[in-house]
Amino acid sequence: WPAIAPYVKAINDLKKEHNAVILAHNYMTPDIFHCVADIVGDSLQLAKEAASTDADVIVQCGVHFMAETSKLLNPDKTVLIPDQRAGCSLAESITAEDVRALREAYPGVPIVTYVNTSAAVKSECDICCTSSNAVQVVESFGVDRVLLIPDEYLAKYVATQTDVEILSWKGHCEVHERFTADELQAYREAEPGLRIIAHPECPPDVLAEADFTGSTNGMIKWVETHKPQKVLMVTECSMSDNVAVDAPDTEFVRPCNLCPHMKRITLPKILESLENMRDEVHVEEAVAMKAREAVERMINLPV
Ligand code: 13P
Ligand code: SF4
Repeated sequence: WPAIAPYVKAINDLKKEHNAVILAHNYMTPDIFHCVADIVGDSLQLAKEAASTDADVIVQCGVHFMAETSKLLNPDKTVLIPDQRAGCSLAESITAEDVRALREAYPGVPIVTYVNTSAAVKSECDICCTSSNAVQVVESFGVDRVLLIPDEYLAKYVATQTDVEILSWKGHCEVHERFTADELQAYREAEPGLRIIAHPECPPDVLAEADFTGSTNGMIKWVETHKPQKVLMVTECSMSDNVAVDAPDTEFVRPCNLCPHMKRITLPKILESLENMRDEVHVEEAVAMKAREAVERMINLPV
């Protein structure tokens, strides 16, 4: 902690000076999550918070699509990401051109995009969703068939929760696709009483081993309400680190997998970001107009 104290103080001072707010995803390391973040949450919560903040500057501690979403909702504010190389394998898996081809192949079928996509992809879609509202968003059209792109595994999970036929894409999260059902079974055998909770970006056979499936906020809430003796969070490593701080009676059993993109965001880079007002996120207005509609439709749904 002494090593981080000067960073924490300098960052918190600069936040006041610039009327800046730090929105941090649940996968940020504990120093960011617990010491400098103003708001922590999953993708949906961060988007909602971005829509309602009265700060002049938003520092997005997460990956690039999250910062873009904040910029879409705040075209007149300064939105910074401490390292703009922080990408996402799902966002990389599909282009706006791919979505246009899907529209042609499936005329009249609504296209829902996971928020883990570029603004250009969002601008070609009807509405966004996140892992915490995907089922409600898919059902909001009142039709029999919906495209839910680009995460094949999220789409498969949603298909188990609704009667709507779900068509998808072949994108995967490089972090969650690494978990296997075999490793979870081995942990269950070695750790009697173990509860397993998983993110819906995991493959179907992995989710079949889980006691609960939900977004990162959903997983945190599950631990808070169930207070398990032993839990394995099938997701990014920082989740267990962050939740463990407030759950001293719970043993957090690993494995976990690191997201190399989320891990690009560090305290020194946040400090540099606030000192030099960079990297600033911009979205071309022609793209932003349509992408914003897709995000706002999601935020305005009564879910
Ligand atoms: P959540 O919306 O559940 O926080 O998920 C975001 C993400 O990138 C998970 O890999
Ligand atoms: Fe993307 Fe997966 Fe990293 Fe989330 S954990 S940001 S889905 S690569």
